[in-house]
Amino acid sequence: MSDNSASAKLSSARLSAPTDAFVEAFTASVEFDQRLYRHDIEGSIAHATMLAKQGILSEAERDAIIQGLEQIRERIAASEFDWSIAQEDVHMNIEAALTAEIGDAGKKLHTGRSRNDQIATDIRLWLRDEIEVIRDGILRLQQALLDLAEREAETILPGFTHLQTAQPITFGHHMMAWFEMLERDRERFADCNRRLNVMPLGAAALAGTSYPIDRHYTADLLGFERPSENSLDSVSDRDFAIEFSADASILMMHLSRFSEELIIWSSAQFAFIELSDSFCTGSSIMPQKKNPDVPELIRGKSGRIFGHLIGLLTLMKGQPLAYNKDNQEDKEPLFDTVDNLQGSLKVFAEMMPGVTCRKQNMREAAMKGFATATDLADYLVGKGMAFRDAHDVVGRAVAFGVAEGRDLSAMSLEELQGFSADIEEDVFKVLTLEGSVAARNHIGGTAPSQVRAAIGRARERINQ
Ligand code: ARG
Repeated sequence: MSDNSASAKLSSARLSAPTDAFVEAFTASVEFDQRLYRHDIEGSIAHATMLAKQGILSEAERDAIIQGLEQIRERIAASEFDWSIAQEDVHMNIEAALTAEIGDAGKKLHTGRSRNDQIATDIRLWLRDEIEVIRDGILRLQQALLDLAEREAETILPGFTHLQTAQPITFGHHMMAWFEMLERDRERFADCNRRLNVMPLGAAALAGTSYPIDRHYTADLLGFERPSENSLDSVSDRDFAIEFSADASILMMHLSRFSEELIIWSSAQFAFIELSDSFCTGSSIMPQKKNPDVPELIRGKSGRIFGHLIGLLTLMKGQPLAYNKDNQEDKEPLFDTVDNLQGSLKVFAEMMPGVTCRKQNMREAAMKGFATATDLADYLVGKGMAFRDAHDVVGRAVAFGVAEGRDLSAMSLEELQGFSADIEEDVFKVLTLEGSVAARNHIGGTAPSQVRAAIGRARERINQ
């Protein structure tokens, strides 16, 4: 990065003194927005192509510009490009290099365009690509969950409400709950993409341009759905970035909750699962430790992603139309969100196949908290009792079990009949864990057959 020439900066006849060196560095964005170079060049090539089609540039000028830009792209990719702070941002760095390379034709590239519509275009093009990577990352995690759900469709663990034992569920069913949340996340990103895929180019600084441009043509070249409707909106709005951050925050909230479960489940006290060693670390002092660092870090990273959402909302809230320099501050939060989201998805998807269920521990835990109490109440309702009365009967049976330190299934028929004469020998079928989960046999229920059916439907949905 060179920073030696304030005078080399795009000159403005309006300014009589060169920019103060610190102000120059303070206002420059090239250190981070150079990341957009591919999309910046893609936009410029489309713009030059449209200008030539409209007779605003000659074909020779267009060809020189495109060749020059392609060369610059290769130089940047090979890290042979000298980024200059004096050139402020990615746009002016590339334009200055183009003019140095091809001469006067380079100076014509910016005809009918402003950096305001240019940056609004660049971020959209860039984010569109990143959203695709994110959606693919979600899909990979979903596929890992489907495989795990299939493997553990019959594995029983206690389901919780208030983190107190509630009812037995299957591990496959639990994994499919996360699958569904991720499916909505994937849809949300597709929806965000639909709204951001509209082309700002042509808005120029704010009011449009007096050249006879063809915005539909440029939009087609860049794969945008259509040109934007309003030039002021085009250069001002960053609501697509906020929407993206909101979608990212919801996804991270899901990953964080899921991580929390993995952390709790892998503790010595729960001991429901074992994470693969390659996703854990030891302690420098406590030899017995196997720490679930990966889920902990993902849980922790949700904080910065939520922070970026609030940052972007705050960035926009006081801005009058149209473009303001404030908007330069949208990039670092977006870049950080994308990097951390993609990293979290990748590591999560790789971690899940290595999760092993400690089935015996899960079973024992499910037997401990009177998880089949609802089943006994439902059984009594089946014998003709009103649900509220059945609830009372079972409440008394559970109180007895607590005092005796015994589960319902460990009581004798005589003991159970002491709570209700309606109870017969067949009660023990519903008091088993298998009987309990198998009874929830409807769409959305936890029965293994339903989990398998849900997995089948899910595979069809994601293959569409
Ligand atoms: N670096 C600027 C940004 O990120 C590019 C647009 C600058 N436009 C301007 N008129 N200063 O928003």
